[in-house]
This record gives sequence, structure tokens and C-alpha cells, in this order.
Amino acid sequence: MNIVEMKNITKQFGDLTANDNVDFELRKGEIHALLGENGAGKTTLMRILYGLYQQTSGDILINGKKIVINSPKDAIANGIGMVTQHFALVPPMTVAENVILGYNDRFVIDRASIEKKVGEAAEQFGLDINPKSLVRHLSVGQRQRVEILKALFRNARVLILDEPTAVLIPQEVDVLFETLTRLCKEDLSVIFISHKLDEVTKITNRVTVLRDGKSFGTVNTADVTQNQLAAMMVGREAFGVKREVNTSSDDILLEIKNLSALDNQGLDCLKNINLTIHAGEILGIAGVGGNGQSELAETLCGVRPVSSGEIILDGVNLIGKNPAEFTKAGMGRVPEDRHEGVVGDLSVYENLALEYLDEYSNNGILDRKAIRKNAEDLIKQFQIKAKPNDMIRTLSGGNMQKVLLARVLSREPKVVIAPQPTRGLDVGATDYVREQLIKQSKRGAGVIMISEDLDEILSVSDRIAVIYEGEIVGILPAHEATPERLGLLMSGAVKEN
Ligand SMILES: Nc1ncnc2c1ncn2[C@@H]1O[C@H](COP(=O)(O)OP(=O)(O)OP(=O)(O)O)[C@@H](O)[C@H]1O
Ligand SMILES: [Mg+2]
Repeated sequence: MNIVEMKNITKQFGDLTANDNVDFELRKGEIHALLGENGAGKTTLMRILYGLYQQTSGDILINGKKIVINSPKDAIANGIGMVTQHFALVPPMTVAENVILGYNDRFVIDRASIEKKVGEAAEQFGLDINPKSLVRHLSVGQRQRVEILKALFRNARVLILDEPTAVLIPQEVDVLFETLTRLCKEDLSVIFISHKLDEVTKITNRVTVLRDGKSFGTVNTADVTQNQLAAMMVGREAFGVKREVNTSSDDILLEIKNLSALDNQGLDCLKNINLTIHAGEILGIAGVGGNGQSELAETLCGVRPVSSGEIILDGVNLIGKNPAEFTKAGMGRVPEDRHEGVVGDLSVYENLALEYLDEYSNNGILDRKAIRKNAEDLIKQFQIKAKPNDMIRTLSGGNMQKVLLARVLSREPKVVIAPQPTRGLDVGATDYVREQLIKQSKRGAGVIMISEDLDEILSVSDRIAVIYEGEIVGILPAHEATPERLGLLMSGAVKEN
């Protein structure tokens, strides 16, 4: 029995066809993966189902009945809920208030009864969350649970999750999967978007693949391998980039000495970090998210002040300098949060020149011609699927990441800092980004690749440092590293230095 049927859905943005005659069916009680390359049209299709976009043509049926969805309100009334990557919660309010927000607009009930109701719902759905907690005190995984609870509280029978695991640490992923499996036994139906093929094969019943905006087919998950899924998406089976030759030299490019820093709450987040990076070397920094990785990347490009220690790049101590001076000295950071690294309402060509505008200005006048020329070159070189004039916010995740990489790497920095460089990218774009990092090391740059993805760490690094609670708890050559050994270090169970 199909709870949702989307028939011949087409969505046009100007002359771009994001969904082209797509068919999609969701059975009651199943977890159904929506798979496809960056820009294939997955989010667009789900935004149509949730009423955030209206289809140009095509029909939506719920329980066999044709309906019109003009807004999320209509979607919710039809039992459809969606959790997007950028949560729509109000941080200063409690969990209970957030869950009830916008739901109860007819009469006001007191705080205690709201908390009781939401607490009961959380218990009923098995979501471990305290209704009294302030959202701003919650971890990302907990916030996601609030979003799910919010949808279930509104009687969602269909739950759309757009890359829900991209922001979670492995333990939180396990909890999410248990929750989803359990809820589906109680007839919830889930649409699950992810680029991680191991997750897709682990928890979904069926998979629908989109390719260039068209439906490419639906298969039973049990009948396919991860390689076959990759082939359905991108047309080739083999994927995965490996570091083949170690190009590290003995020359030390960057020395980080006794580096300590505070987090936004004023607590120690980096404790006495010592690292050296050689020319031509890729140093992987492994760790469970939230152990100081973001703060480390920020201190290394001058965005976060240090409380003590030294950052010596090519013999020059950069402590006390501003981010622009770090960049000038040769530090190139690929921003961690793609959406913060770009200005959405500016065009691709303007974004490609951001942070480097002084290179294009003459007596305070911007040379727009040169900026455009630069953009056209980079679009070609980095195979960005966009035109110079496109607004950056309309680009898919993979293409946005390519813009950021192009901007930083084309300046040939001495050291490249790449935090979570492939988060949210499809298998093809992931390969591309890893190849670019390897290419940087081959021309003699030092690369610091921070990643929560152990496969990525193991396949690209020359040496691996593990960070735990702001401390480097082990440094080892990649050929001595195994997932088990790294896992132990990452969990804080052992220290090797
Ligand atoms: N609001 C918009 N205006 C113009 N074009 C858009 C808009 N939203 C999406 N697009 C375009 O539609 C196409 C499909 O984008 P969509 O976000 O659905 O891809 P996706 O499959 O979710 O990709 P990803 O895996 O990167 O999230 C892309 O070419 C994108 O640039
Ligand atoms: Mg998407």
C-alpha cells in the first residue's frame, strides 16, 4: 500500500529543470532512500512534497487520493513532516515550547501542561529528550530529536529526513537508526536522503535513484551492493580515491607549539597542542565531532584567538595576526560550513573573488572584468556546474564546495586547512575533493585534513593525529593505523603520547 505517490513531477527554476517527470512511491512502514549525485534534485522533490516549492506539473497522491500542497501547513495536515539540515528551532526557548510553537494557535495553555504533554509524547515515541531543557543547551543530535518530535507531535505519518546523519556523530547515528526502525514498525514511513551508501544499505528497505533530475529506478535494498548503487547514481562502479605515493619531505612547513585556546563558552577547548606539518604532507586529524576540531581550524587561520602557544608558518610566528594576514602568509582554509563560507545572494563569480578583493582593486576600483575572467577559468578548471552569474544559493552542495575549494586552492597556499572537506558530498564529488587535496600535497603544500570519516582519514593521510577533548592523544603513520586503533584513541580509552 502506497502512502505517498508522486507522479510525473516536473519542477523548473527558470530554464533549469531540477525535477524532470519524476515518479516516486513510498510504501507504508518502509524506510525509503532517495539517492543521487549533488544537484540530482532530491531536496527539490522533497521540498515539493513538504509544500516549500510548488511543482511546475505533476500530481501528488496521499493514500491514493490526489491532493494539493501549497505550503508546509497543507503538508502537515496531510501527515507529512520534514526535518531539514538547518533546523528551524528557537534556541532560547525550551524543547516543549519549540514543539508546541505554531501548533497551538487557538488557545494558550500553561507551561506545566505543555511540558507534560510534550514529555508524554517524547516517551510514547521513545525519543530521549527533556521537555524543560533550553534548545540552546542541546547537542546537534538532541536538536534533531526535537525536530522529529515536533513532526510526530503533529501526527506526521510520513517523515522526510534530508541528510540527517551529516551533522551527527557515530553514536548519535546509531540512536537515530534505532528510533527510525522502531517507529516504522508502528507504521511511520520514512524518506531518507543520504550520500553514505553504507547507511543506505544498512537501514533502508528500498532505494530510488535520481539522476540529472530524472528517476533512474527503484530497487529493493537487499538486492543491490553499494557498488551497484554508485553505478546507478554516477554511471560507474569503482569509486574511492587513495593516496598512492607519500610526497612528504623533511622540510617543516608549519609548527604548532603548545597551542591552547578557549571555546565560545570560555572553556578550554584546545589543550597544549603540538603538531608539525612537512612540505608535501597530508596530516589527517581524526576525532569524534565536537572534540576541538572546528576550533583548531579556526585558530590556524586566525579567526579564533589563542590563549597561549605558537603557530609558525615557514619560519614566521603568526600569533596576534588577523585572518587576512594569516591568508597573506600562506594559510588557506576551506570553510567548514559551506553556507557560512559563501554569500548566498551574490553570484558565483563574486563569491570566487571574496577574501581576495584587494587583488582585483586598483585605487579602490574593482576590476570586474578580471573577476569574471578569474571565475570563468576556475569554473572550467574545477568543473563547477554553474554559470558565473548564478546566485550561489541555488547551487547544489557539491558545487558550492567546489566554489570554496577553487577560491582557496587557486591561490596556492603554503598550507591548506580542510575541515570536513567532503561532508554532504556525493561519491563523485568526494573523489574530486580528495584528488584536489592530494594534488596540493604533490605541489609541495602541507595539508591538514580534519575529518570524522575514518575511511577518508585512512585513505588520504600520510600521518594521522587523533584529537580527543581538545588534546592530541596519538600521532601515527597512516600505514600503522587501523580503524580499531583509531577508534580506541578517538573514544579517549587510550593515549599514545
Ligand atoms: N531555489 C532555486 N533556484 C534555482 N535553482 C535551484 C533552486 N533550488 C535548487 N536549484 C537547482 O536545482 C538542481 C537540484 O538541486 P537540489 O538541491 O534538489 O539537489 P540535491 O539532489 O538535493 O543535491 P545535494 O546532494 O547537493 O543536496 C540544482 O541544479 C540546483 O542548482
Ligand atoms: Mg540536497
